[in-house]
Amino acid sequence: MTRTILVTGASDGIGAVAARRLAEDGHRVLVAGRDRTRTQHVASDVGGDAFVADLARLGEVRALAADVLAATDGRLDVLVSNAGGILGRRALTEDGNEATMQVNHLAPFLLVHLLADALREGAGLVVQTASAAHHAGRIPVAAAGADLSLRRGYSPARAYANAKLANVLMVRGIAAHMPDLHAVALHPGVVATSFGSGSTSLLRLVYRGVARRLLTTDEHAGETLAMLAAGTPGAEWTPMTTWTSGGYYDGRRVGRASRASHDVALIDAVWRASAAAVGLPPR
Ligand SMILES: NC(=O)c1ccc[n+]([C@@H]2O[C@H](COP(=O)([O-])OP(=O)(O)OC[C@H]3O[C@@H](n4cnc5c(N)ncnc54)[C@H](OP(=O)(O)O)[C@@H]3O)[C@@H](O)[C@H]2O)c1
Repeated sequence: MTRTILVTGASDGIGAVAARRLAEDGHRVLVAGRDRTRTQHVASDVGGDAFVADLARLGEVRALAADVLAATDGRLDVLVSNAGGILGRRALTEDGNEATMQVNHLAPFLLVHLLADALREGAGLVVQTASAAHHAGRIPVAAAGADLSLRRGYSPARAYANAKLANVLMVRGIAAHMPDLHAVALHPGVVATSFGSGSTSLLRLVYRGVARRLLTTDEHAGETLAMLAAGTPGAEWTPMTTWTSGGYYDGRRVGRASRASHDVALIDAVWRASAAAVGLPPR
């Protein structure tokens, strides 16, 4: 059955490949990106609508959700939350959040909530591009709750690891607590895309340099993402046709997520902190 699928980060890299593959398979694809020209280019390739929004601005995330609801008459099957990446120096967004955490996690968290009813009208699926980098994530929790700000000890890689841990925690939280929604997290592999180009870290050299030739291709990773978006949640894992809600996949295999990602208290604390950061009531 064909689906209506919103793909964020669809203007480039893995998301663009996934958008093209899903459209080839007959799905209706809504293409979201930050750069207008790239977003429109992919949208015209896939015969879908283009939505331009910078996830570093929560106002633009709200406008994106409103535009998607209008374009789909309030019925969406799948949200593929794929936009993200590693940034440079620590910066706060205009919303007051650490920028890496906002782009990679808080914006998708808000989008899921704004689109939840539309997703329930459809297949109710959320596919979140996470990363094996989440293994290095350490989100502190104190009496005041989880601290997503990384005020101390910031590095681009630490900020990215924390944001990707938050992705996996969110997927577990959706599966456990949002009725009729099913969610899955994917580590797409280490993929030769534009990833890391906005970073000052060593990673940029890896992604741009010699090692680039050794990485997974964006074609392979994008197709994996498309397979999850077209897949069905079920108790049993049949490679790439069913997946377990709340699960974490490493490429086309069941992945081994970090111990922290299974911590129920952390799932809850990060959920509450995320809700507060984007102006939603706690669960
Ligand atoms: N490449 C890897 O090795 C790797 C490994 C693990 C996980 N991942 C994850 O895979 C996802 C896709 O990455 P990629 O490798 O395909 O990287 P990419 O080629 O750099 O593409 C990133 C996509 O995210 C969008 N994006 C970035 N910042 C945004 C913002 N502030 N607002 C809206 N959209 C924004 C970009 O939009 P514009 O192009 O329009 O700016 C682009 O469409 C990311 O979540 C990344 O963390 C990648």
